[in-house]
Amino acid sequence: MSTLPGENTEAAAQVQASFCGEPLTAEAGSSVAAALLASGQPAWRTTRDGKPRGLFCGIGVCFDCVVEIDGESGQRACMIPLQEGMQIRPSRGPGQEADA
Ligand code: FES
Repeated sequence: MSTLPGENTEAAAQVQASFCGEPLTAEAGSSVAAALLASGQPAWRTTRDGKPRGLFCGIGVCFDCVVEIDGESGQRACMIPLQEGMQIRPSRGPGQEADA
């Protein structure tokens, strides 16, 4: 198989993390939001009235994509690169109880 000039033929490094305890794998350099989308998660939290939210602006403006990362809530998934071992969960707002 031939390659094009400038084509990267090396396999990208993979990063292993988890979402709600399930494995989440993505290429190094992917944002948390990109990793969640690539894993088939179009939405990863809900509003207080149950409406699904996930990636919207993708540039750190709208806060629709917030998640909890390693216990820290309110993290914008579109702005944070996925790191090895991250434990990601839906972000909880005031009055929303932690899952068991
Ligand atoms: S999608 Fe809007 S802040 Fe992340």
